[in-house]
Amino acid sequence: MTSPIRVAVTGAAGSISYSLLFRIASGEMLGPDTPVILHLLEIPPAMSALEGVAMEIQDCAFPLLQDMVLTDEAKTGFDGAHIAILVGGKPRGPGMLRADLVEANGPIFTGQGRAINDFADDDIRVCVVGNPCNTNALIAMHNAPDVPNERFTAMTRLDENRAKSQLADKSGRPISAITNLGIWGNHSKTMYPDFFNTRIDGKPVTDVIDDTAWLKEEFISTVQGRGAAIIQARGSSSAASAANAAIDHVRDWFTPTPEGDWHAMAVPSTGAYGIEEGLIFSYPVRCDGEGNYEIVEGIELNDFAKAKIAETKEELLGEREIVKNLLG
Ligand code: NAD
Ligand code: LMR
Repeated sequence: MTSPIRVAVTGAAGSISYSLLFRIASGEMLGPDTPVILHLLEIPPAMSALEGVAMEIQDCAFPLLQDMVLTDEAKTGFDGAHIAILVGGKPRGPGMLRADLVEANGPIFTGQGRAINDFADDDIRVCVVGNPCNTNALIAMHNAPDVPNERFTAMTRLDENRAKSQLADKSGRPISAITNLGIWGNHSKTMYPDFFNTRIDGKPVTDVIDDTAWLKEEFISTVQGRGAAIIQARGSSSAASAANAAIDHVRDWFTPTPEGDWHAMAVPSTGAYGIEEGLIFSYPVRCDGEGNYEIVEGIELNDFAKAKIAETKEELLGEREIVKNLLG
């Protein structure tokens, strides 16, 4: 047994957290040998609901769960946290874009960024889920000047998982056969799921799926529009699949990426592939198992891919302009 890891989760009484917290406490995220202490942050009106969630977590008698801290204060929420999963914020409803949430949700990430800066453990790693997640991560990062920028990430793993499922379905191959699925750019309708570099059983997707028109059109638009399709069908936004992706994101940040493969994470750009440094941009990344990742360099991008990446970059620059007053 190692010493406990403090995991802060915001929006802890919300829908995503209801699928997330139990899996963190059971060890699915950090493994069967890592005890956890959950820091559950909510707003005052949701504290009663949070008490109820905590009672249920307690009733699971998870052997790895050492303690729970329930709070509506950011200082206590992030105090000593090693991992912060920032879920709290409004979800969009039918007909809305994720970017429409920026005015409601953006300001949340100034205060939480500052609290992470001042109270979290020096080793903190942050995964932003609340939408628009790339730009919210940008806001948090700018408000935490003492925390290395690369510790701030946003979640595009749900998009990777969605894209893999679509390709598995179309090709009739199992999910495990699909590798090297990169999501580029914004978690939004402009994201680019790069099928050209994805492999099925080690072969280029285009060798296995002999339908380039489907790949260029239906596949991409299905992945880009999946969040909206779920809202349309379910009446509320994805929750269990989002929680699952958050588990995947954090677990794989601390797991060596299998040789030759990569995952999608939105991370501060280093300037790679011509993206403005510091923009929170989803890239293919590889992780070393110690909580470090690097953007995969040298991926070949054809003109189709370059045009898609330029479009999603422009959208992110536009979002950054809208929130410039929140960037500290
Ligand atoms: P929800 O409304 O069920 O829960 C959100 C919770 O956040 C609520 O309990 C609310 O009280 C809490 N909250 C609001 N402001 C807060 C603050 N300042 N501090 C702490 N908690 C706060 O929503 P949900 O379905 O859980 O979704 C949460 C967010 O995740 C939304 O913005 C949604 O769009 C986003 N999301 C992102 C992805 C992704 O792939 N990145 C996927 C699904 C949902
Ligand atoms: C998703 O992709 O399901 C989430 O970002 C929720 C949404 O608003 O689409």
